[in-house]
Amino acid sequence: MATGMLHSHYLFVVLFTLIYLIKTILLLSDKDELLEKFKKKTKIVEMIVSFGFLATGVFLLTQMPHIPSLMYVKVGLVLASIPLAVVGYKKKNKVLVTLSFFFIVVSFGLAQKVKKEKAGKIIAALSGKEIFEQKCVLCHGGDGKLGMSGAKDLSATALPHTGLVEIITNGKNTMAAYKSSLSAEQIEAVASYIETDLKGK
Ligand code: HEC
Repeated sequence: MATGMLHSHYLFVVLFTLIYLIKTILLLSDKDELLEKFKKKTKIVEMIVSFGFLATGVFLLTQMPHIPSLMYVKVGLVLASIPLAVVGYKKKNKVLVTLSFFFIVVSFGLAQKVKKEKAGKIIAALSGKEIFEQKCVLCHGGDGKLGMSGAKDLSATALPHTGLVEIITNGKNTMAAYKSSLSAEQIEAVASYIETDLKGK
């Protein structure tokens, strides 16, 4: 349900931006007649698209367990762009229309940034688990408790994040250092995996 909504939202956003872009270009290049024609032809489509854009957007907001602060900026920009556009087109004011279009583009960019940050976190968590299963289970076991060749019980570790990273990077006694076989990001990812999935379990 939410994914379907997300796809409809993207579709509405793209259509909305496209109509908006054409109108902005026509106004900025003084093609008044063409602009009027275009506005007339797309009036109903634009109403449907704008409504769909806002309705799917509001629905998605209500589905988010936690609303990132960038999201407030984004919604604020979209809301601010609407009166700017209405007044701008009525008075044929190029500055207002450009500003309004600029707001929409920036808010679209912010949406992409929020998405990327989320995707980055999920990927880091996934690869942390994969790395652990490839390189660490031999001594530590899938649950961190195996203790082969004197390995410490990772579910009972008292080390803070930096301590985990330190030992994985430089090794300790029979545990080899991983600084040459894992990147700093991968070491961060395994350390996070230990903290979220093994520690205290
Ligand atoms: C060859 C066996 C071996 C492998 C493979 C191994 N470890 Fe270890 N690990 C140990 C031993 C032994 C210790 C205890 C070192 C000591 O304190 O003397 C240890 C300790 C640790 C500690 C410190 C825990 C604490 O509370 O002191 C962490 C964290 C750790 N290992 C993470 C990892 C991770 C992550 C991997 C995989 C990338 C890994 N280990 C692979 C043997 C291994």
